Formats: sequence, structure tokens, C-alpha cells
Amino acid sequence: MLTHIKQVANHVGESVRLGAWLYNKRSSGKIQFLQLRDGTGYIQGVLLKKNVSPEVWEQATTLTQESSLYVDGTIRADDRAPSGYEMDVTGIEVIQEAEEYPISLKEHGVEFLMDKRHLWIRSRRQAAILRIRSVIISAIQDWLNGQGFTLVDPPVLTPSSCEGTTNLFHTKYFDEDAYLTQSGQLYMEAAAMALGRVYSFGPTFRAEKSKTRRHLIEFWMIEPEMAFVEHEESLQIQESMLSHVVNHVLKSCKTELEILERDTSKLEKVTGSLPRITYDEAVELLNREGMEFTWGDDFGAPHETKIAESFDQPVFITHYPTQIKAFYMKPDPTRPEVALCADLIAPEGYGEIIGGSQRIDDPKLMAERFNEHELSQEDYAWYLDLRKYGTVPHSGFGLGLERTVAWICGLDHVRETIPFPRMLNRLYP
Ligand code: 4AD
Ligand code: MG
Repeated sequence: MLTHIKQVANHVGESVRLGAWLYNKRSSGKIQFLQLRDGTGYIQGVLLKKNVSPEVWEQATTLTQESSLYVDGTIRADDRAPSGYEMDVTGIEVIQEAEEYPISLKEHGVEFLMDKRHLWIRSRRQAAILRIRSVIISAIQDWLNGQGFTLVDPPVLTPSSCEGTTNLFHTKYFDEDAYLTQSGQLYMEAAAMALGRVYSFGPTFRAEKSKTRRHLIEFWMIEPEMAFVEHEESLQIQESMLSHVVNHVLKSCKTELEILERDTSKLEKVTGSLPRITYDEAVELLNREGMEFTWGDDFGAPHETKIAESFDQPVFITHYPTQIKAFYMKPDPTRPEVALCADLIAPEGYGEIIGGSQRIDDPKLMAERFNEHELSQEDYAWYLDLRKYGTVPHSGFGLGLERTVAWICGLDHVRETIPFPRMLNRLYP
């Protein structure tokens, strides 16, 4: 039986066997230090010439980076070791002596690392990010499950669009046309009418020619949808969910956040309710700050960053002009030129991490919107049925997983937040 490095604290003084890769090595005469990793953690193996056979000593001296090994030895607590433990190595069984590893411990260019993404994810930093991503996913799901939400899986291949037709991925579905989903929302609305509070978690696709640090072609979204929930309550659900997630990551990913050198004081501020400003106020703020901006335009990344700078937590921008938002958003009854919607903008320039709204529930208004947006009522007949058979007020939102991970981890680019990013000009590996 193998012991995982993460568990060595329970095995002090015991002789254990690890399955590991060698990620670095140094030696001084009669002693060799093997830096080992097994995916669960890191430990230094200390090899004394006098403790092992000449064959084992010889083999260790020639071991290459990323060689795969079974390592036997005794665990010892050591305050000087970063993990608090070391292993006194008594034997090594080499599974494979690795060929010369292309990623050395020195700096490499991003394009090179992206080409070697399948290997790059072995690095301490990348592995920490992927572990945090996994923790964020389970924190969101745990929170939603605890609040009585049911997980529902929408289809990936769809006959029509949800977020406009400009960035749809087209494919053939035998003799029909199909598109990769941009969002599961419309299906979640159907599911909410069946199950009350639902959410989906899956990949979504946008054929966007955007080459920014926030855009992926394939990204993962969590999309809760709630029957009998109006705009205000939806915002409260979003802030509770987000503060749960941030606090959970702060508690359970201390080591990973340290590896990433994340300034966690910025995350600690997310404890409950989040600041809000209306679109109108945001426009005023931009003009006041010297960024000329006309009411009715959509914010670009520099605008969002500027707005976010005035807050030390994510900020909701609410009540956008109806005309720049999706067809399904419910207009504010007191002021129909704006929608009951909100985008949550993360601090530090990470941009929009959540987009959501109350949905139109009135069949007549929905029909009008279909005409304005030149959408075929026939294509969406099933969706329109939801407004015919017991329509109710309902709201939902979509949280972009990769942008959330980028913000929580403090990364420069979303490409590091997903194991194998799909971006403009990148489909490999
Ligand atoms: O604002 P979006 O387009 O909203 C929707 O798709 C709604 N149907 C969601 C809903 O209400 N159920 O996308 C939601 C979130 C954005 O806030 C952003 O975080 C992320 O998805 N996102 C992207 N992330 C990475 N790359 C892209 N190209 C993204 N486009 C959107
Ligand atoms: Mg949006």
C-alpha cells in the first residue's frame, strides 16, 4: 500500500512507500536531496550514501526530472522543511527514468508553456490552481444543494441560441443544424417550473473573436434558476453563495493560496452583502472619472475595471438599459427602459463574474420581445410554453467559473484556470 504525501503527518517514525515523481534534486557529497511530488503534496527525500546499497546510490545520482519512482523510507518531522516533514530514503524503485523534460525550473514563454500544457499542469503553481478550481466547484455545489437546489443537466447540442446569434458554434446534427450551447438558461427555466430551484453546471461555448485575458471559447458555467424568486432575492442568493465560496476557499486552500502568493486580505472582505450601483450611477461615475461614456452603451473591460476600482469587493451593477441586454430579461415595471438585471463585477480588473436577471414571465411581453429581436416563435415554441402553462415570476444567473477562479487565485489570465483552455488560436493540446 502506498502512502500519500498529504498523509505523512500520520506516519511519523514509520516506514512507508510513496509513488512519486522527482521534480528536483541536489546533492552534496555523501547526501542527496530528492524533491518528490505525488499529486497530493511535496516532500524532500534525504538519501545518505551509508544507508543504501551502492546500486541505489548510483541510480539516484543519474535520475532525471519527472522520473517516476516508488520510494521507501521513514517519515521524520522536521521544522526546517516547508511541509514540516522529510523522508529518510532507504530504497528507490525506478518505474521510468524520464526523457529530458522540456519544462525546466527556469522561466519559459507563455506560448511554449501552453503548447506543453499537458506537462505544465504538473507544476506546483498550476496544480494549486486546479485544486482551487475543484474546491470552488464543490463549494458552489454544496452550498446550492444545502439550499434545496436540484442539479439539472441541460443539453450541450441545441437547436437555437440563448445569448444572441453572433457567437454561436455551428455544427451539423445529421440533416439538421445544431449549435453548441452558449448557456443552459432556457432549459433551466423549464426545469425551475418542474423542480422549483435548480442549477446546472457544465461547459458552454462562445465563438467569440475576443483575445482578452477574460475570454475563453469553452468555459464552464454554474446557472441557478429559481421559481417565485424576484430580482432582489436573486441578488441576495448570489451574495450568500459567493461569500460562502470565498470563505470556504480561504479556509481549505491555505497552502495553495500561499503557493500562488495571493494577497488574501482582498478576499477576506467578502463576508456577506455586496455593494451595488445602478447602471445610471455607473455612467455618472465614469464621466466623473473622466471616461466619457454615453447612456445606452455597453461597458467594455476598461469601464468595468474603472467602476470596480471604487469598491474593494465585487460590485453589482444593476438596471442596465433593456436594449443592450438579452431578450428574456424582465423590464423594470416602474421604468421599462431598464431591466431587472445585474452583472457582478469582480475587483482588481477581473471583470464580470456573474450575469443574471429576473425573466419575463408575461406571455404578451415575451411575444413582443421575440418580434423585436426577430426570433422565431416556432423555433422556441417549447420555451414560450413555459409562459402559457402556469407562468410565475422567476430569476436566475450564470457564474463564470474560470473568471471566478482567476479572481480568487489572483491570476493574470483565465488560461491558467482551466486544465486545457480553448481560446482563439488554441485548440491544442
Ligand atoms: O453574462 P452571460 O453571457 O450570461 C448568460 O449566459 C446567462 N444566460 C446566464 C444566466 O442567467 N443563466 O454569461 C455568464 C457569465 C459571465 O458573467 C462570465 O463570468 C462568464 O459567464 N462568461 C465567460 N467566461 C469566460 N469566457 C467567456 N467568453 C465568457 N462569456 C461569459
Ligand atoms: Mg453578461
